[in-house]
Amino acid sequence: MSVIASSSLPTHHTGVAGTTLHPVPLLPHSAEHGELRNGLLASRAHTSPKYFYDAMGSVLFEAICVLPEYYPTRTEAAIFSTHLPQMAEVIGTGGTIIDLGAGNCAKAARLFPLLHPHQYVPIDISADHLNDAVGRLQQRFPHIEMTALSLDLAQDWQLPPEVRHERRLFFYPGSSIGNFEPAQALDFLRHLRLCCGSDGGILIGVDLIKDAQILATAYDDHLGVTAAFNLNLLRHINRLLGSDFTLGQWRHRAFFNTGQSRIEMHLEARQDLQVRWTGGGRDFRQGESIHTENSYKYSIPDFTALLEQAGFTAAHHWTDSNEWFAVIYAQTT
Ligand code: AVJ
Repeated sequence: MSVIASSSLPTHHTGVAGTTLHPVPLLPHSAEHGELRNGLLASRAHTSPKYFYDAMGSVLFEAICVLPEYYPTRTEAAIFSTHLPQMAEVIGTGGTIIDLGAGNCAKAARLFPLLHPHQYVPIDISADHLNDAVGRLQQRFPHIEMTALSLDLAQDWQLPPEVRHERRLFFYPGSSIGNFEPAQALDFLRHLRLCCGSDGGILIGVDLIKDAQILATAYDDHLGVTAAFNLNLLRHINRLLGSDFTLGQWRHRAFFNTGQSRIEMHLEARQDLQVRWTGGGRDFRQGESIHTENSYKYSIPDFTALLEQAGFTAAHHWTDSNEWFAVIYAQTT
C-alpha cells in the first residue's frame, strides 16, 4: 500500500511549485508483510484498516461517503456549513493547519477562507493523491505556504522542521480517530499535544454513540458498497502477500459492539477453506472470521475527557440536531 518507499527516494522530493513532499518512513516491505501475516495467523485473525485503501478501496470509500446510510460524512459537512463562522471566532486566524489524513484536501480547503492559515500541511499515507490535490489547491490559494507530507499516522511519526511552530492547529475530520483503540487514541492525542507547543489546538470530528441499528446500517448498507469495501481488502492482500483468497468464500459482517462502544467489521468464512501465501498459509473453519476494522463511537463528555487527559483544555463542540456527530475544538494553554 505504500506509495513511496523510503529507501528508493532522496530525502526531499520536490513536488509542484512551492510544495515539498517528504518520503514516508514506512516499514520495509518484508516487515510490513510480516505484520499482515502475523495478523492473519493470530488465533482471532485480524488486519489493520490501512489495508482497505488501495486504489479500488479508496474509490469504494468515496462511494461509502455518499451512501444514504453512511451519515458521518454528510453530518460532519453540515456541522461545518452551519458553524464555521463561530468556529473561526473561537479558533482565530493565521498559524499552520496540519491536516491528518488529508486525502483530496477538500475539507481543509473549506476552512481557508475563514481561518486564513499562513501554512497548510496536508498529511496522508498516499503521496500520489496528495501531490495532485495540493498542486491544485496551491493555485487556488497562492498565499498559503503548502508542505505535503506522506506519513503513516499509525506508526511513529514526527513533523519535519519545515512545519512552522506558531499556532499549530491539527485538523482531524471524518472520525478516523475511531479506528484507534481508546488507549492508542489517547497516546495519539498526547503526541499531537506535544507537537502543538503552548499556543496550538485540535479540531476533530468524532462519531457519537447512537441507536445500534442506525450504526449497524451505516456499516452494512443496502447497495453492498461497504461489503465490497471490506471484501476488496482480500484482493489487496492477495497482491501484497501473493495469497489466494477467493472473495466468493467470504461474507461481510458488521455490527455494533455495545459493551466496547465500537462498530466491528469482519470477513466471515462461508465454508471451511484454506488460504495459501508465499511461505505459509492457514485454514479457516466455516463461520470463522477475520476482524478487519473497529470504529469506536464516543459520547461528547467521554471524548472531552480524553482530550483533557491528553493535555488539551477548554473544549468547544458543535453538533447536529440529532447529536449523531460532533466537531470538537480543544486548545493548549
Ligand atoms: C474512515 C475510519 C472514519 O470508521 O466510519 C467506513 C471507515 N469503514 N465504512 C469509519 C469505514 C466502513 C471510516 N473511517
